[in-house]
Amino acid sequence: MSEKPWGGRFESPTNEFVEAFNASIDVDARMYGEDIAGSRAHARMLCQQGILSSEDLDAILRGLDQVSAEIERGDLEFTIALEDVHMNIESRLTAIIGDAGKRLHTARSRNDQVATDTRLYLRTRTDTMIAYIRKLQGVLVTLAEEHAATIMPGFTHLQTAQPVTLGHHLLAYVEMFERDAGRFLDARKRMNQCPLGSAALAGTTFAIDRNMTAAELGFDAPTRNSLDGVSDRDFIIELLAAASVCAVHLSRLAEELILWMSAQFHFIDLPDAFCTGSSIMPQKKNPDMPELVRGKAGRIIGGLVAMLITVKGLPLAYNKDMQEDKTAIFDAFDNLQGSLRVFGDMLPGMRVNVEALHQAASSGFATATDLADALVRAGVPFRDAHEIVGKSVGYCIKADIELHQMDAAACQQIDPRLTAEMVGALSVEACVAARNHIGGTAPDQVMAQVALWKTALENN
Ligand code: ARG
Repeated sequence: MSEKPWGGRFESPTNEFVEAFNASIDVDARMYGEDIAGSRAHARMLCQQGILSSEDLDAILRGLDQVSAEIERGDLEFTIALEDVHMNIESRLTAIIGDAGKRLHTARSRNDQVATDTRLYLRTRTDTMIAYIRKLQGVLVTLAEEHAATIMPGFTHLQTAQPVTLGHHLLAYVEMFERDAGRFLDARKRMNQCPLGSAALAGTTFAIDRNMTAAELGFDAPTRNSLDGVSDRDFIIELLAAASVCAVHLSRLAEELILWMSAQFHFIDLPDAFCTGSSIMPQKKNPDMPELVRGKAGRIIGGLVAMLITVKGLPLAYNKDMQEDKTAIFDAFDNLQGSLRVFGDMLPGMRVNVEALHQAASSGFATATDLADALVRAGVPFRDAHEIVGKSVGYCIKADIELHQMDAAACQQIDPRLTAEMVGALSVEACVAARNHIGGTAPDQVMAQVALWKTALENN
């Protein structure tokens, strides 16, 4: 027999560089467990259907146990000559058990094999990813509880807008991560269909039982169309999309942490264990972890774009281009999981400068909207109120004071409807406390949301 499992019709050997360039073993070796599980299910099904003898099945199952043990011990050396994890394992199995090993690939192709293995592998990885998202949500909820009443400036255009509570700000991220987990769960549902039995593209002449293999491998059902079964890479694109959105959320949080840790903001300090220094500037403590997480987002989005472009021009069914899918998705998953982990580990050690946050919220006229609201309550139409407070802000900028420091004379001069009681009642505490409705920033609302999140996360 030829050295390559497909070598029968070839007359000359593979070009040496092509052998290396063509191989995917470096990337797909990590799917060995799924490949072996798929082979076990396939062999059992072949035996049940009378396509494989029970002696051959026994030999295959025992042989696969040995191959698995060898890989786990690091005793099996994979070779690029055998291209990928599927042929490496089959070849080793055949070396151990002989002819029975050569019968395993009956009614199967690497095309349905790789599609099955990848779905199995990514299913587990998706579950792990969701667990990491949940863990980070839990960390943020704990911080939100601690800072339910910590007042900070809320921004639009990165300009001071209105006071918010830090707890409320952090819970905004918990919401984003909840949708991210939902996207992963959604993708997982659609992905959980078994392509095994699609064979190369058209199905097989053998009387296989696809329900059996699908059930044994924990899939909801077999895929319904063999061409689609081997051609579909939607599941990878969807997971990359879910990963990209999640990475974007992490990146926004990262950006805020970086800003907040700057000397100019001075809102937070991140633990030493998650920062690094400078080789020349002795004073430096840099937020490398948020920066790296922000950087990883670009790379993960790159994976999504790469796969969309790779698949868009592919005719049915399998094309070798598809081998690139694993590079993109494995890299994205490794980096997203790492990002979630590092934030989950780092944030409990974040020191919050409550004083600086309060100070920042108290300057920059963050209470202006509330003053306009007070005028409206006294019967002034909102547009007039807006104009009056706008003028008041202009006055305060010139006088270098805050709104609540305006005296009665100044108020009267701007507009007779503006009173000293109105400006005197302004405080950032009152601002946040007043926004006490569903979705508002009031400490009471934050605590109510924290309670809901705690129950939700416990039940996950
Ligand atoms: N290593 C290949 C991949 O990852 C496996 C499928 C190869 N199939 C084929 N017909 N060449 O896509």
